[in-house]
Amino acid sequence: MDIKAFQDDLIGWFSKEQRDLPWRKDSDPYRVWVSEIMLQQTRVDTVIPYFTRFMEQFPSIRALAEADEEKVLKAWEGLGYYSRVRNLQAAVREVNEKYDGNVPDTPKEISSLKGVGPYTAGAILSIAYGKPEPAVDGNVMRVLSRILLISEDIAKPAARKIFEASVRELIDHSNPSYFNQALMELGALICTPTSPSCLLCPVNEYCQAYHDGVQQELPVKSKK
Ligand code: ADE
Repeated sequence: MDIKAFQDDLIGWFSKEQRDLPWRKDSDPYRVWVSEIMLQQTRVDTVIPYFTRFMEQFPSIRALAEADEEKVLKAWEGLGYYSRVRNLQAAVREVNEKYDGNVPDTPKEISSLKGVGPYTAGAILSIAYGKPEPAVDGNVMRVLSRILLISEDIAKPAARKIFEASVRELIDHSNPSYFNQALMELGALICTPTSPSCLLCPVNEYCQAYHDGVQQELPVKSKK
């Protein structure tokens, strides 16, 4: 495939069609971090008002580091999976102390923070710091399994590495932030789990599954 043309078509589409979401107003690493943690197990529509309120209440690393845990848990009420916010506050406290309030910008340091797995690390590094790191979640695996005809079982933990390697080959080094966000957005708006809108897809000409008519059979996902 013509990778440059693929990047341009994908990013061009994202530039025009991306949703107006509160965490996309700027690329502050703290805001990116909070949004990605909230979005991990919760839908975008649900997250929006929580994110806005959370940022009003705890606008900075320092504010969240110094906040009472009770107040923080209260702000999370309704989002569920409370270990997410406990880990987040613990990690933010570490950043406040160890890195003088600056979210680190290397994979090693960022991945050592509590609750920051490979996906979140890649999202922060690419979206906030413009580094060409993969940010592979279920949506991105679905999109890439179709474009590249990858039949790896995405329920298996080993699958993520395969897709990360694909992103490293495809990612636009001049705009890693938009490239990764465009893959996420394509998965949310076009390349949906059932009945993907292939006729509207900005990259259908590069999609092997669409070419072969097997988009509905991918990704392969075994029941656990
Ligand atoms: N899902 C995970 N991360 C996201 C983001 N940054 N924007 C929209 N949906 C997402």
